[in-house]
Amino acid sequence: MSVLFALLISFDVANARGPGLPNVMVLATGGTIAGSGASSTTVVGYTAATVGIETLLNAVPELKTVANVKGEQVFQIASENMNNDYWLKLAKRVNTLLAQDDVDGIVITHGTDTIEETSYFLDLVVKSKKPVVVVGAMRPSTAISADGPINLFNAVILAGSDEAVGKGVLVALNDQINAARDVTKNNTSTADTFRTPELGFLGYMQGNKPYFYRQSTRRHTADSEFDVSSLDVLPQVDIVYGYANMNRVAIDAFVAAGAKGIVHAGVGDGSLARPAVEPALDEARKKGVVIVRSSRVGNGIVARNGEAKDDEHDFVVSDTLNPQKARILLMLALTKTTDTKEIQRMFFTY
Ligand code: DGL
Repeated sequence: MSVLFALLISFDVANARGPGLPNVMVLATGGTIAGSGASSTTVVGYTAATVGIETLLNAVPELKTVANVKGEQVFQIASENMNNDYWLKLAKRVNTLLAQDDVDGIVITHGTDTIEETSYFLDLVVKSKKPVVVVGAMRPSTAISADGPINLFNAVILAGSDEAVGKGVLVALNDQINAARDVTKNNTSTADTFRTPELGFLGYMQGNKPYFYRQSTRRHTADSEFDVSSLDVLPQVDIVYGYANMNRVAIDAFVAAGAKGIVHAGVGDGSLARPAVEPALDEARKKGVVIVRSSRVGNGIVARNGEAKDDEHDFVVSDTLNPQKARILLMLALTKTTDTKEIQRMFFTY
């Protein structure tokens, strides 16, 4: 898409907004932001996904000063229980709402355990340049210094801002703005857990305003070729984790269970253990399973034909996508093709 055309779309969306405050929909899915603990000092061992959307919104009356906010409880789960059915339901609801002229942006409240996966899935299937901001909290709503209210306040401002138009799906907690493609949870329990290692934040929330300093160079949202509007199921793709002394049992089990794709979270630059793992993946490939080489390391490019002869094996490499995100892109790629050259193009594009 030409830059001019993209700019015109961004300008068009940003200016389609009527006068006054932006109209922001808050879609609730559960998580700690909707969690409650036994006391105000309970910050671990609380129950996630117990507080409904109206309570969440009423807890932040200041929202009315920055947007016309409406809430909807799409589902109510702890996000470790997220699955493809929930993703398809959420994506279809988001696209329906964004197609409405009276919706300027969307906030999704979500558990932090799988925020990075849901946000990347949406980054690939949302068909609009309007802002979509995924937000969570690391402390339950009942805790001293709960971070949910301020995170929600900032997310609504961001979702209603012109600055966020065309930036792709964003993950915003702790005053920091991350891109869905690259963000990952870096700490099991601290409030500053969401980082984009090496590639960095897109920007910050400060003084009730977003400040952007960069944006993703990869295709997303309205520029994406993926469309889930007519899908009710997604192809089964699994991940095998690499480690010293690894065997082939998990690979064979996933193939026997009907996996259409396997992501290998290799050691180092996506290395394959021999003689156990490489032959197992080769046999899986020969049975039609698409293999993507990723890395457990978390940063850097998995180089094609580096640690394995990908051309010879007909494997795909994940570029910089970590295993859990490579799984999402492979799943969506398989809704369109099983051609590994096409799939490799997708991994170098998104
Ligand atoms: N059960 C986890 C989840 O729903 C709690 C983590 C959180 O939301 O911060 O993702």
